Amino acid sequence: MFVKKNISLKSYNTFGIDARAQFLLEIENDEQLSEAYQSSQFRALPKLVLGGGSNILFTKNQRKAILKINIRGIEVLDQKDHEVRVKVGAGEAWHQFVLWCLDHDFGGVENLSLIPGTVGAAPIQNIGAYGVELKDVFESLEAYEIKSGKIRSFNKEQCQFDYRHSFFKGRGKDQFVITSVTFMLTTRPIFNVSYGGIQQMIDEKELELNIRNISESVIHIRQTKLPDPIKIGNAGSFFKNPIIEKPLYDALSLIYEDLPHYPVDLGSIKIPAAWLIEQCGWKGKRMDQIGVHERQPLVLVNYGEGKGKEILKLSEQIQASIQKKFGIELAREVNVF
Ligand code: EPU
Repeated sequence: MFVKKNISLKSYNTFGIDARAQFLLEIENDEQLSEAYQSSQFRALPKLVLGGGSNILFTKNQRKAILKINIRGIEVLDQKDHEVRVKVGAGEAWHQFVLWCLDHDFGGVENLSLIPGTVGAAPIQNIGAYGVELKDVFESLEAYEIKSGKIRSFNKEQCQFDYRHSFFKGRGKDQFVITSVTFMLTTRPIFNVSYGGIQQMIDEKELELNIRNISESVIHIRQTKLPDPIKIGNAGSFFKNPIIEKPLYDALSLIYEDLPHYPVDLGSIKIPAAWLIEQCGWKGKRMDQIGVHERQPLVLVNYGEGKGKEILKLSEQIQASIQKKFGIELAREVNVF
């Protein structure tokens, strides 16, 4: 196991926050993971598990040992009729896995192109974009149970997937480290082009409907809407889209006739946080080194030398203003440490 001491985490988080860590352990396999938790040197230290660092905000130097999960490998387990089971190491970069699927003509993840982060982190918040969620292609996962030191297997039901949520953010929080994820992909994909602009782009460019063209459309839409973390530090959507009850929606829609909304289930309605944030006047606001993105206000940005504490404070100001104006609580999607 490779151990780095007293290092900057700037290149380990897509916000580009320059916090420091006392220890960073590069974990390449299950044995090294077990060593990190059980060896006398590291047993006593609190741990923080890190994938691609694309959903995290560091607000201080870290005393915890950072476990950087680099477990690699993509393996076809079996192929039956048109269904293919593929097992992927937790440390593989999500988008590289999507590209691998395109190369092999395996459909299912093309709508999830260009999402930053690793495969192992994807189930934790059930990543989703353009009408598809991880749970739609998920078969099972393996995770190291910290308490017992054993590898446990979880099926879809056990993961309790929900909108940007799973067992690993709920009751299972801080108890497991995901080591691999198995996907159920298909050689006969059902194309999902219902969401925002994919169909439009396919039509405009007269593209054949296939997984490669869907992926390219998604990449194009993301690149025009979302800031590239390599150029401007960010962690994607900072907040979740709030889900509100019907009575509050009814009251608000009388005042705001253009209130965008998506029914979730009977009596609950999802409101785009981006709209709420824009209505409160935050869109494109810049405070020196940090700000609210000019095209997608759900994304908070670090222009270079921003501090995690400043971004957290800005996020709290946004939450307070939305609470005041709409009576809606915005929950964070990003994890703060
Ligand atoms: N909107 C505004 N102003 C804006 C932008 C958007 O009012 O400046 C409103 C519009 O009504 C628009 C709606 O927000 O129709 C939805 O916007 P968008 O399609 O950009 O999606 P989102 O709900 O803001 C979610 C995910 C994104 C994902 C996109 C596309 C969450 C928290 N975010 O954003 O995921 O890429 O849908 O599927 O669910 C992420 O989680 O990090 C992420 C980027």
